[in-house]
Amino acid sequence: KPRPEWIATEEFLSRVVVHPDHALEQAIRSAAEAGMPAIEVAPNAGKLLMLLVQLSGARRILEIGTLAGFSTIWMGRGLPANGTLVTCEFLPKHAEVAWANIDFAGLGQKVEIRLGPALETLAALEEEGREPFDFIFIDADKENNSRYLDWAVRLGRRGATVVLDNTIWEGAVLEPDMDPVNAPGIIDALTLLGEHPRLDATVIQTVGSKGWDGFALARIT
Ligand code: DHB
Ligand code: MG
Repeated sequence: KPRPEWIATEEFLSRVVVHPDHALEQAIRSAAEAGMPAIEVAPNAGKLLMLLVQLSGARRILEIGTLAGFSTIWMGRGLPANGTLVTCEFLPKHAEVAWANIDFAGLGQKVEIRLGPALETLAALEEEGREPFDFIFIDADKENNSRYLDWAVRLGRRGATVVLDNTIWEGAVLEPDMDPVNAPGIIDALTLLGEHPRLDATVIQTVGSKGWDGFALARIT
């Protein structure tokens, strides 16, 4: 799906501007070696997450969908010394690979991986009465996108940042028959972002190694 020039340009931008380091490259390699899908955020998107964490001054991050920890490491690097990150992962194998990567990146003291269905973890986090989150990144099963957005509003503080990955899905937002499993969840989430009384949102389209896709950026009001 991605055009060769999009991939080449992304590689150029990575080399000239983004500069992913050894720990991030190792995270990609370990995922491939473990037979995991190469569906992590692109390096330029990962660095955007880090910069958004820094620009917003976030101290407490919630991530839904860990995979091999690539975005986890980018966001974790944006945290101050006393910052923390909770990341939700469904598959034990993914969590195991991610933990090795996060620890190798020097973030073992800041990051907590919660294993299991994210909807259960999110309910548990509320039960635990934790301090509200400052920054929430949603990048998991697309069918639950709207439920994850609702949880983000419940668990985030006023003024918190919410980022939702995969908002264009190769144009399936206009042609849901392209992917009847995932497109409805993505479209529902976009509708909710536009209508939710406590969310102000925009959506950016992207091209690159991940094809034609995009992300939503929202603020909890
Ligand atoms: C898929 C999931 C993602 O989060 C993504 O960014 C790209 C692809 C997938 O499930 O295919
Ligand atoms: Mg994604």
